[in-house]
Amino acid sequence: NPAIPLPADIFPGRTNSAGVDLAHQPTRAAMRERLAELAPRQWSAGADLAGSKLPILSPTDGSPVGEVTLPTRAEIAMAFQQAEAAQPAWDALGGERRAALLDAAADLFEDHTAEFLSLCQREAGKTLPDAVLEVREAVDFLRYYANEARAHFTRGVPLPGPTGESNVLRLHGRGVFVTISPWNFPLAIFIGPTAAALAAGNTVIAKPAEQTPLIAQLAVDLCHRAGVPADVLHMLPGGGQIGGRITADPRLAGVAFTGSTATAHAINRALASRDGPIATLVAETGGQNALIVDSSALPEQVTRDVVASAFQSAGQRCSALRVAYIQDDVADTMLAMIRGAFEALVVGDPAQLSTDVGPVIDEEARAKLEAHIAARQAAGNRVWRLPLPPECDAGHFVAPTIIEIDRIGDLAEENFGPVLHVVRFAAGQLDRVIEDINATGFGLTLGLHSRIEDTRRFVEARARVGNFYVNRNQIGAVVGSQPFGGEGLSGTGPKAGGPHYVARFATERVTTIDT
Ligand code: NAD
Ligand code: ALA
Repeated sequence: NPAIPLPADIFPGRTNSAGVDLAHQPTRAAMRERLAELAPRQWSAGADLAGSKLPILSPTDGSPVGEVTLPTRAEIAMAFQQAEAAQPAWDALGGERRAALLDAAADLFEDHTAEFLSLCQREAGKTLPDAVLEVREAVDFLRYYANEARAHFTRGVPLPGPTGESNVLRLHGRGVFVTISPWNFPLAIFIGPTAAALAAGNTVIAKPAEQTPLIAQLAVDLCHRAGVPADVLHMLPGGGQIGGRITADPRLAGVAFTGSTATAHAINRALASRDGPIATLVAETGGQNALIVDSSALPEQVTRDVVASAFQSAGQRCSALRVAYIQDDVADTMLAMIRGAFEALVVGDPAQLSTDVGPVIDEEARAKLEAHIAARQAAGNRVWRLPLPPECDAGHFVAPTIIEIDRIGDLAEENFGPVLHVVRFAAGQLDRVIEDINATGFGLTLGLHSRIEDTRRFVEARARVGNFYVNRNQIGAVVGSQPFGGEGLSGTGPKAGGPHYVARFATERVTTIDT
């Protein structure tokens, strides 16, 4: 096991994971040493399955990271059969005991921070600071949902009233829950919905993204080591085809999906056309996230937050900034400052601590982003791009890009990478700006940089978004403090890491006893 000292004691009383303090030199040195030891290791996922095998290659340089084995149809059916059989006992275990297992898993995750960081970098192309945040968020989800299990699934709620009987409401698991997750948070968003479903008393079939099964396998192995039974938590790796087979199964009681809006629609249709119980769908999907900057905003703060929101994680966050609306009387000054900071971004190998922007996930993502940028150039939009260093030739890199456009509606879809669009707007047109943003139908994050309280209230009252950030960046929601998720095309709610999330995975039962 890794011996990375975690600075837990620097935040006494804190309930969120302290993570790894990269600013603390001895911690950083120990971690780099451990990552160097782990770098040659080859990983596997689905090793007990019998389907076809696929290599997993690093998006940074194409080097092999490991191998995944896919499930056969019979193995998918067997997973459902076992999960269905195991669910009543898991539900009967009660919230307190399930919470203890999730807490034990969180502790094991922290013990294996180095392995997770290594996989975040090699399998998903994450920079070290991003990888640290990812592991923290995963641990936070486990502990937050464990607390929810303890609080709401341990004992029933007596309901006093006029009937003269004993009325008690209890929450139970719905049955077998399927969780389907994306590659951009290969650990946190793989384990978050899975932990919530387990906390509520469901058994789980978890399908990670096809690009990132190795880190998911480590997460599942650690949950099993923590005491979550193997028939309670199953992992079936694979892509859309396997996902389609899983979501067609009549035995599932619900699906927690995070990914693109198009896939959420496909799953919704699949659930509607199958037999079996009426399934719950929790969908957390894409965004067309905007930021509004007015002339009262602080230019240095805007610059820092725009660059972080658009280019951190190579723009591969659902929360990432896609379109900055800048009031035209300050737009030239702001843009000059943003471009200055943008030009200082270091693009390259995410294993280097100096790197700000790593690769995008695969060739398909790279080609799609390049096609979008080329189309905008052909349409005559002003475009600024960073040069890519030669080392990027071996991987799936997209040069960070800024494009001026006329309005957010010019964008046909979410551009999931390091591409920032800028729109100028005239003073007095704030209502039209908000109308345009709402008209996209997405509603995930919105940023505002303004020092005017009335403007804040005006925007807050009209914007249809899940997470509204004022005078700061618009990424990196913290579990328990900033419950995260959108509305409209961006998701069904409830918010991940918030007080209403686990309840969506549960069913309510009321027992009435006459004396
Ligand atoms: P995706 O929709 O392509 O894939 C997501 C998952 O769905 C993968 O596991 C994939 O294998 C599976 N899948 C694909 N087709 C399926 C089908 N027909 N049936 C069942 N499963 C199927 O998304 P992605 O490219 O992996 O992730 C990026 C997207 O995720 C972006 O749109 C991003 O905004 C979104 N996202 C949203 C949130 C949020 O909290 N709202 C968080 C992270 C990512
Ligand atoms: N929760 C992640 C963020 O806020 C998606 O960036």
